[in-house]
Amino acid sequence: MSGSAKRSVTITLDGSNKSSTLPLLDGTIGPQVADIRRIYGDLGIFTYDPGYGATAACESKITYIDGDQGILLYRGYPIEQLAEHSSFLEVAYLLTNGELPTPAQLRDYEMGVLRHTMLHEQLRQFYNGFRRDAHPMAVMCGVVGALSAFYHDSLDINNPEHRKISAFRLIAKMPTIAAWAHKYNSGQPFMYPRNDLGYAENFLYMFNAVPAETYKVNPILAKAMDLIMILHADHEQNASTSTVRLSGSTGANPFACIAAGIASLWGPAHGGANEAVLKMLTEIGHVRNIPEFLSEVKDKGSHTKLMGFGHRVYKNYDPRAKIIQKACHDVLGELGIKDDPLLDLALELEKIALNDKYFVDRKLYPNVDFYSGIILKAMGFPTSMFTALFAVSRTVGWISQWAEMIEDPEQRIGRPRQIYTGPTQRDYIPPGQR
Ligand code: CMC
Repeated sequence: MSGSAKRSVTITLDGSNKSSTLPLLDGTIGPQVADIRRIYGDLGIFTYDPGYGATAACESKITYIDGDQGILLYRGYPIEQLAEHSSFLEVAYLLTNGELPTPAQLRDYEMGVLRHTMLHEQLRQFYNGFRRDAHPMAVMCGVVGALSAFYHDSLDINNPEHRKISAFRLIAKMPTIAAWAHKYNSGQPFMYPRNDLGYAENFLYMFNAVPAETYKVNPILAKAMDLIMILHADHEQNASTSTVRLSGSTGANPFACIAAGIASLWGPAHGGANEAVLKMLTEIGHVRNIPEFLSEVKDKGSHTKLMGFGHRVYKNYDPRAKIIQKACHDVLGELGIKDDPLLDLALELEKIALNDKYFVDRKLYPNVDFYSGIILKAMGFPTSMFTALFAVSRTVGWISQWAEMIEDPEQRIGRPRQIYTGPTQRDYIPPGQR
């Protein structure tokens, strides 16, 4: 980017002779960005942007989204091409290293990840501290945060080798942590990872298998799982990624930062939406109830949202939703599920909403979560696992963005400003006089 700014924007403060000339910075694609860092020094004012809708908080080479065109690129490669031709670990290599691997590099990378799939044996005990009905995301926040208490040999964030080992550890251990969260819920024994299986395949094995039987992972489901993971791997500066970056900007260790990202992802406006979509479809219950539900959504006082619709950046179809919608039909077909009432309901809801003025005017289109819940349900996952699966996939994006931030010479502790609207200075009043 940057340095070579050819254009600028000048802001003049009304009623004074003060002005500030802000350089306009160029990315490789996307709109220009005004560098406002000098504005407080020049004019004595801050900028106000709640929700950061118009603020670039960092420079990044990892993921690009064009929300108007519905384009998503990982390191320049369109998501559609990666979804069709790549694998999750190849995408993980691409996101973390910047380029697609050669076959030998991919083999080494896969071995590096697969070597770290086991958890420290003492971490097993950690699960026992949770109630049996603990939400998997609660377990994941706790266990991932606890990794920093177990892997002291990779916590020096200024050591590139430590950063690399932490990345391997996180990417490798997340499926084990998530699968064990489910096993703990269901009361079944934890299954140890099998390093002869692929990444998604191994996750399905640990999730479904029990020691009393041999278990063969359905290759169709392993492929679908791998695809879902590719689609969720990164999404530039979303809430959880920004949380990881903000936590990391303080120098906190990567395990703690990813635990913060998991907490942020959990919310229904973000990663929790896939779980919320299923809940919503179940509550609607039948196609005939759609009009009543949509009136509630449009009622300003109701706080009801059409979950799986809308996006801060996409004002057109989320490209991931298109891919997952097709995969959803393929998986249901392969599993012999001819009529899935929830899918039928979702399709009808989508059709009606896409023609409804409320959604058209606000450019609200289905996002990835509108279909991911249906496909995950068909694959046998309980709803409570949906967001945990998102966290497994997004760990790759989080750790890539975290590493990029640590290596960025412009990186400083994240510290937004505010418009203070509370009381001005006043004197303490003794209790008896209030
Ligand atoms: N249902 C009904 N109305 C909506 C919805 C929705 N899903 N999304 C936005 N709107 C309305 C909103 O009420 C506002 O209306 P008005 O202008 O009359 O006040 C208008 O559309 C603009 O919305 P906004 O709240 O300014 O949009 P935002 O960028 O702040 O929020 C969002 C983006 C994703 C949080 C929101 O669209 C939403 O809550 N969607 C449902 C939850 C969801 O599916 N989240 C998953 C996002 S994709 C996966 C991920 O990133 O994790």
